[in-house]
Amino acid sequence: MVKIAPSLLSANPAFLGDDVKKLEQAGADLLHFDVMDGHFVNNMTFGPMFLKSLKKCTKLAFDVHLMVNAPERFIPWYAEAGADMITFHLEATKKPDDLINLIHQYGIKAGISLKPKTDMKILSKLKCQPDLFLVMGVEPGFGGQAYFEDTPQRIVAARKLLSNSNLIVEVDGGINPKTAELSVGASADILVAGTAVFKNGEYKKNILTLKGEGL
Ligand code: DX5
Ligand code: ZN
Repeated sequence: MVKIAPSLLSANPAFLGDDVKKLEQAGADLLHFDVMDGHFVNNMTFGPMFLKSLKKCTKLAFDVHLMVNAPERFIPWYAEAGADMITFHLEATKKPDDLINLIHQYGIKAGISLKPKTDMKILSKLKCQPDLFLVMGVEPGFGGQAYFEDTPQRIVAARKLLSNSNLIVEVDGGINPKTAELSVGASADILVAGTAVFKNGEYKKNILTLKGEGL
């Protein structure tokens, strides 16, 4: 069964704690934190203190997506603030293997991601295998964008290019009931969704629909 990770980028920043509790009650499987530094992408979001505070509100795992330059600076901050998985972008580092090892030193899962237009062939240069690959359905930076049509092909390519037989493939951006079906059909394990989960405030119904369990 596919897992749903609501993206808190679409939550109401003034009521994050309430939204997190509602998402947990609504059946979310984990929470996706889109961390942006205003440099790697033209937006700025959650500092580690948000995770520290929200960790007290929920038992859900924290899935941290670093859309930042110099991710090596951010990894310790988010690992110590309560991240259970940390994903960084290969475009932001020359030492991905060191970063995978750094994340593993905290005993948490290491993920990598690529912008949709980056050639996936660079994955074959990795010496260390990540636990997770985050396939971007949209250009990183904002919610509410349309899913790139080639996303399912990039899901399949990720499994071919990465040798970890237990690789978790997560898809992020542009997920709605139709693109959820396309992504799961291409072997996605986890779907990140902001707009589609928060739509009309019907979290439970939206999460069930994305899981293909409609009401
Ligand atoms: C984009 C983020 C995505 C985005 C998903 O940079 O990584 O997680 O918030 O939002 P929707 O589901 O609205 O496309
Ligand atoms: Zn994300």
